[in-house]
Amino acid sequence: MEMLKSFLVSLTALAVFAPVLHAQQSTILVDADHRVTTSLDGDWHYIADPYQNGTAPDNGQPSRNSFAADRHFQLGGPLVEYDFSKSPTLKVPGDWNTQDPKLYYYEGLLWYEREFEYHAQPSHKVFLHVGAANYAASVFVNDKHICNHEGGFTPFDCDATSALKDGTNSVVISVENIRKAERVPTLKTDWWNYGGLTRDVSLIEVPEAFIDDYGLSLDRSDGKTISGYVHVDGASSGVSVTLDIPELKVTKTAQIDAAGKASFSFQPQGLERWSPDHPKLYKIEIKTGSDTLHDDIGFRIVEVHGDQILLNGKPIFLRGVCVHAEAPYRTGRAYSEKDVETLLGWVHDLDGNFVRLAHYPHDERMTRLADKMGILVWSENPVYWGIQWDNPTTFEFAKQQLDDEIRRDRNKASIILWSMANETPIGDARTEFIHKLAEEARTQDPTRLITAALLPHITKNPNGSEAIILDDPLGKYLDVIGLNEYIGWYSGTFDDLRTTTWQDPLDKPVIASEFGAGAKAGLHGTDGQKFTEEFQARLFTGQLEMFKKMPFLTGMTPWVLMDFRSPVRKLPGIQDDFNRKGLISDQGQKKAAFDVVRDYYKSNPQPPANP
Ligand code: GCU
Repeated sequence: MEMLKSFLVSLTALAVFAPVLHAQQSTILVDADHRVTTSLDGDWHYIADPYQNGTAPDNGQPSRNSFAADRHFQLGGPLVEYDFSKSPTLKVPGDWNTQDPKLYYYEGLLWYEREFEYHAQPSHKVFLHVGAANYAASVFVNDKHICNHEGGFTPFDCDATSALKDGTNSVVISVENIRKAERVPTLKTDWWNYGGLTRDVSLIEVPEAFIDDYGLSLDRSDGKTISGYVHVDGASSGVSVTLDIPELKVTKTAQIDAAGKASFSFQPQGLERWSPDHPKLYKIEIKTGSDTLHDDIGFRIVEVHGDQILLNGKPIFLRGVCVHAEAPYRTGRAYSEKDVETLLGWVHDLDGNFVRLAHYPHDERMTRLADKMGILVWSENPVYWGIQWDNPTTFEFAKQQLDDEIRRDRNKASIILWSMANETPIGDARTEFIHKLAEEARTQDPTRLITAALLPHITKNPNGSEAIILDDPLGKYLDVIGLNEYIGWYSGTFDDLRTTTWQDPLDKPVIASEFGAGAKAGLHGTDGQKFTEEFQARLFTGQLEMFKKMPFLTGMTPWVLMDFRSPVRKLPGIQDDFNRKGLISDQGQKKAAFDVVRDYYKSNPQPPANP
C-alpha cells in the first residue's frame, strides 16, 4: 500500500504540480564507470501507461485524462487502480520489447519502480546514474521529481541528494519511446525502437567538491605535449587538483579557476603511444580534496593528410565493420560485458582494426573494450535520414546528444572519428544543420576527425557505365568522407561492380562506410538467388574487387557485423523482423561472406599512396 500511495502521490504530484516542480537539469559524471557505485540493476516493477494517465497534460492543468482529475472526480476518495507491488517486473538494464511479449511492439510511456536501502554519508552528494534510457525519461526519488532527460543513447546523472532519506527509499522512472518527427532520430529508422532503461542504473556518491569532467590528450602540434583540464564541481577557485600518471613519473598540480577548471600541460618522458598494434593504456589518478578519480587512458594522434588518415604520423587502412548495439544470441539492446566481448571478438576474428558503431553511441563498455583491444572507433550521433532540418528544437536535440557523446567518451583513445550523421538527403537546410554540428564537435573536441556517412551521387560515364562522384556539399565541412552504397543489392548488377568508377574531387580520405547484401544463414542456392549465402559472398567479392580500383580509399566498414532486429524487414522465413545483412547471424552463425571479408583483410590492404 505504501508503494501504491507513493506511486499515486508521485504521479499526482507530477500531474497537479508538474508546472511548479522544476526538476534539476541532469549532468554527466565523466568516468562514472570507474567510481564506486551502488547498483540499482535487477527487477523493477513496471506499469505500461499507453494513455499517459500518469502525467499531467501539456497545459499542466488537471483534466479528465490525468490522475488528479480521476482522484477529484472519484466519489468516496481516490480510486485505487494502480499497484506497483502487484505489477510485473522487468530486468534493468534491458529493453522492454524483448522481455515481455506484450511489449514487443510497445512504443509509449512506461513507469518503472523499485525500492532500495540507503544510508547517507555526511557531506556527500548522491547522483542517480542512468547509462541510457530510450528515449525520454523523468526520474522521481521518494515522489520528488529530480530530473528529466531526452536522448536514447547517452548517460545522465541526476542529483538525488535532497530527495533521499535514511533507510528504505523508492525510485520511479518514467520512460517513453514514442517516435516523433522533431526528435533525433525521427520517425523512421532501420533498427528496432527498443524502449526502456536499456543500460545500467546506479547510485554514485561523491564528496561535496568532486571531479565531474576532465580531458587529457596528446597535442597534434608537437606530438610530445599532453594537455587538458580537470573540472571540479562545488569547489572555490584556487583549490588544488593533482594529476598523477605513475608509469610516466608525472605528478602535476594546478589550481581551479572561477569556473572550476584546472589546466594542465606537460611533456612526459618515454610516452608510449596507443595504437591497434600497441593499445597502451596508462593508469591516471586525479585528486582534489577528498575526491579521487582513477582512469585508464591512451595517448595517440590522428590527423588527415590529403586522402590519407594518419595514426601517430603513419597512414593507416581501416579494416572495419559496422556494428549495431544488438545483443548476440539473446537479441535486444546490447548492454553487458559479454555482449561487447562477443561483438568485438568477432571483429578480431575478421582481422579487423576498426568498428563503426552505428548509428548512435553504444554502451560505454564497447569503447572501454575497444581501448583495451586496440580497435579504432567511428562513433556516431543518431542524426539519421530525414530529420527536421528547419526545426531549432531538433537542432538542440542533435547538439545535446552530440555534446553528451563527446563528454562521455572524449578520453577514449580508440575513438578517432565523430560522425555527425547517416545518409541525410542533400539540401541547404540539412547541410547547414550538419555543418553547425561539425563546428560544435570541433569546439568540444579539436583532437579528433569529423565525418558523416553520405549517399553517393551517381551519374553516367561517357561509355554508359555508372560514375560515383563524392561531391556532396557537406563534404567540405568534413575531414573524412563516409560513403554508403549498395551496388549489386538495392541497385545495379554484379557487372556494375566491374564497370562503376569513383571520383574523389574533394581529395579527402574516403571510407566505404556501408555496402553489403542480405543473406539468411544456412540458406544456400545458386549465386543469383538473393538472400542466399552464395549471393552475399559473391556481392562482397565484387565490391572488394571494385575497391581495388579506388586508390583514395583509406578504409571500409561493410554493412554489418551481425543481423539485427528492424521493424521494416518483414520477409517471412527470411527476415522475420531482422535485417539479414550481417556477416554473422544473430545466433552467431558465420556466413560465407564473413570469410570473404576476413581473407581480404588478411591480405593487408594498404592505405592511399603518399599524396
Ligand atoms: C542504410 C542505412 C542502414 C540500413 C542499411 C540497410 O544505408 O544506413 O541503417 O540498415 O542501409 O538498408 O540495410
